[in-house]
Amino acid sequence: MALQSLPLRDTDQAYGRVSRLLHWSIAALMLWQFLGMGLRLLLGRQPVVSFFVGWHQPVGTVLFVLIALRLAWALANRGNRPDHGRGLGGRAARLGHLALYLVMAAVPAAALLRAYGGERAFAPFGFQLFPAQTPPVGWMVGLGDALHGEMAWLLLLLILGHVVMVGVHESMWRDGTLARMAGRRRAGL
Ligand code: HEM
Repeated sequence: MALQSLPLRDTDQAYGRVSRLLHWSIAALMLWQFLGMGLRLLLGRQPVVSFFVGWHQPVGTVLFVLIALRLAWALANRGNRPDHGRGLGGRAARLGHLALYLVMAAVPAAALLRAYGGERAFAPFGFQLFPAQTPPVGWMVGLGDALHGEMAWLLLLLILGHVVMVGVHESMWRDGTLARMAGRRRAGL
């Protein structure tokens, strides 16, 4: 069955086309961000690292917009999405997803707050989004400095936990969880 036959909106059986597009594009760009920052940590100053570092701010800014759209779309589809199940497992899944959404939004938001309050103009796409602040806004820069990197590594842990749990669903429980976001199963069937 063609992917185009999926509805745009989510249903209680599966995620629709908009959620899937947002989910997988965010996943790919996150992978890019963590690959670059992981290489920076491992290799230090190298040409390949500079390449990734050079893309970090524009990709991160695009991610922020995609994540905001994802949150808005999740709210718009609330009550009409696949259920997380009952009992302790269901509650844990709901909490895990909530934590993922919150931290995912907070990571680029902290960096953008720091960029907004910083003493240098912020122009990730070659045109200015935020002007330079003189003097810089101390609390914005301080908060961004304190939160961005640490929360980003926490986000990586949450993402790894999310991937492991999908593996557990697929290999042990065989309940078709992955198919709701990746399969061609027509929602509603
Ligand atoms: C979801 C999007 C983003 C992810 C996953 C992400 C991830 C990361 C990670 C893992 C680090 C390394 C922290 C460390 O060295 O301990 C980092 C650093 C950095 N990021 Fe991001 N980032 C994102 C968005 C952004 C955005 C939007 C900006 C700019 C506005 C930005 C600017 C920076 C800068 C300047 C650093 C180096 C200084 C620091 O460690 O805070 N990032 N980021």
